[in-house]
Amino acid sequence: MTQENSRNPLVPYGLVKAHMMMSFVVILIVVIAGLGYSMQFIDLYPLKDIAFFSPGRVRMVHTQAVAYGWLANIFFAIVLYMIPKLTNKPILSEKLGWFVFWAYNTLVVLTVVLILAGFGQAQEWGETPVILDPFIALVVVLYVVNVVTSIWRGRHEPYYVTIWYVLAALIWTPLVFVMGNFLPEFVFAGTGGATISSMYIHDLVGLFVTPIGTGMVYYLLPVLMRKPLFSHSLSLIGFWGLAFFYPMNSVHHYLYSPIPMWAQYASIIASVGVHVVVYTVVFNVIATMASDWKKVTSNVSLQFFLVGALSYLVTCIQCAVQVTLTFQEIIHFTDWVVGHSHLVLFGTFSFWAFAWIYYLFPRLLNTPIYSASLTRWHFWLSFIGIVVMDIDLLAGGLVQGFMWKSLVPFIDSVVASKPFWWVRTLSGVAIFAGTMCFFINMVMTWKESRLPKTSEVPALDSELARG
Ligand code: HEM
Repeated sequence: MTQENSRNPLVPYGLVKAHMMMSFVVILIVVIAGLGYSMQFIDLYPLKDIAFFSPGRVRMVHTQAVAYGWLANIFFAIVLYMIPKLTNKPILSEKLGWFVFWAYNTLVVLTVVLILAGFGQAQEWGETPVILDPFIALVVVLYVVNVVTSIWRGRHEPYYVTIWYVLAALIWTPLVFVMGNFLPEFVFAGTGGATISSMYIHDLVGLFVTPIGTGMVYYLLPVLMRKPLFSHSLSLIGFWGLAFFYPMNSVHHYLYSPIPMWAQYASIIASVGVHVVVYTVVFNVIATMASDWKKVTSNVSLQFFLVGALSYLVTCIQCAVQVTLTFQEIIHFTDWVVGHSHLVLFGTFSFWAFAWIYYLFPRLLNTPIYSASLTRWHFWLSFIGIVVMDIDLLAGGLVQGFMWKSLVPFIDSVVASKPFWWVRTLSGVAIFAGTMCFFINMVMTWKESRLPKTSEVPALDSELARG
């Protein structure tokens, strides 16, 4: 643990910083696009007559930027930091790392521009223009080769659970990307294509975001708590549970569709199996924290971890309910699902990413976080925003579902949804304001890091994170 405060020559710090700073820019684009698009629902979207910013395109930018701009960049950064430390071996090549950084982010920028220009691919979550897909796949493979080399070189020592999670994600991610972006459009037609598409939607979260996110928590939590993880065995049960159950879940996105019923039933059973995975993670996190709650209340990274773990628990309970056929009759196609998506990708995985950023960014720059009060504003505005947004969308989804089931005219359900959409936009304003606090805080920290140091910077976690 003392090593945490000293520079490790194996870690490519410049690359970690570059990916991390890129993620700060993209999360801002994510919330601006989300907020803008939400205004369309309450007839306030200002740019709807400009084709380049038409709301449908902005929605695609919002979701693609979440997955491939924000989460991918921050995960790339954290993996590049964690893996050489855990394996005690360097990545293949820092030069290759820089090539990947520039190539990948050029593709992210091109994705945004081409989607806005009207070249999005008609695949849910695969809206990156077809022309860019092969290049994205290639660059991701290069990233994988770079990091897997470090894991391969370290194979003579036992792997900590984080390495298992990251290794699995690195192998799965390019496969998932290629499967989702090419097979439904070019190989399998009809329900076969839909089945593959559901696997892509689900596995992007389950086999890319979830394992890296969980691996990140299992690395940093013991460091911050200065205690080992509550149970290493439990973490491994969670890992194998994820590997076994997650890929079979996917058809639950298309319940009541023409996909064969046996596949739909199998996906429901596997979804229940995934609960084991979630409970192991949540239990392990809370049990590790329980050894010293005082520390949790005084460290902002631990608070982000805690909220993330509780959001994960809630999403899982939601999932247990929403995956049943009875409940699907009501909530399918409603805002309930959108609430669920935000709780997973923002409430859980983005919160865990923020926990890491408040820990790592000051260390990368050797400069304390600029403002403790901006940090607190970021935490509370994001927390209140996501809680209100989730409750609001779940409630709105139920209202929509029951109205559709009772066969009232569709437009009545639109009118009834308006108050919920207003609340969603207001909660979005809170998230946007929180993200601005975060962005300004990070930019100012970076600016301060460039000033000549007047005194030696303290090296303790709490002092650096000022949280
Ligand atoms: C200012 C804050 C935000 C607002 C107002 C907002 C709003 C929206 C809206 C209006 C949609 C489209 C819903 C629909 O088509 O019916 C959406 C989709 C989505 N947003 Fe956000 N969003 C915000 C922030 C975020 C953040 C920070 C994340 C994740 C890091 C995120 C993740 C998603 C996801 C995953 C979807 C797809 C939902 C689905 O298709 O089920 N959003 N958002």
